Amino acid sequence: MTKTVYILNGPNLNLLGKRQPEIYGHDTLADVEAVCAELGEKIGLKTRLLQSNWEGQIIDWIHEARDAAQGIIINPAALTHTSVAVLDALNTFDGPVLEVHISNVHQRESFRHHSYVSQRADGVIAGFGVEGYALALRRMGRLLA
Ligand code: DQA
Repeated sequence: MTKTVYILNGPNLNLLGKRQPEIYGHDTLADVEAVCAELGEKIGLKTRLLQSNWEGQIIDWIHEARDAAQGIIINPAALTHTSVAVLDALNTFDGPVLEVHISNVHQRESFRHHSYVSQRADGVIAGFGVEGYALALRRMGRLLA
């Protein structure tokens, strides 16, 4: 059976490519989706990329992933630094969780230095631009092999 990976994206990432391109680059989330779908096909993983500006929706997708996916890649965006609820939801998921940040959060404001999600994440990628998603997907391929 082909394994499925949910690639979840939090608030404001719908504006990727338009929003602060000096920090987040010019690629859009649709570009990320295409790259991940292509790579996923190559390494035998089905990918489902989702984005919401609503915390509760992200939590509902994590719950859905409990049955529908074997791994989660998540860029929780600002929820990284605020959401115990997203952490609690991830703690209900049994498979590997990889956390991605496009920017190097450790080089930025101090409020971005703490991540609730990192308490659960099996790996964290930050500062590799949107390439971080593909790197995480490759790692996920190994973890799910
Ligand atoms: C981000 C970093 C967060 O601090 C920020 O709130 C985001 C995006 C990143 O991908 O670099 O929205 O998660």
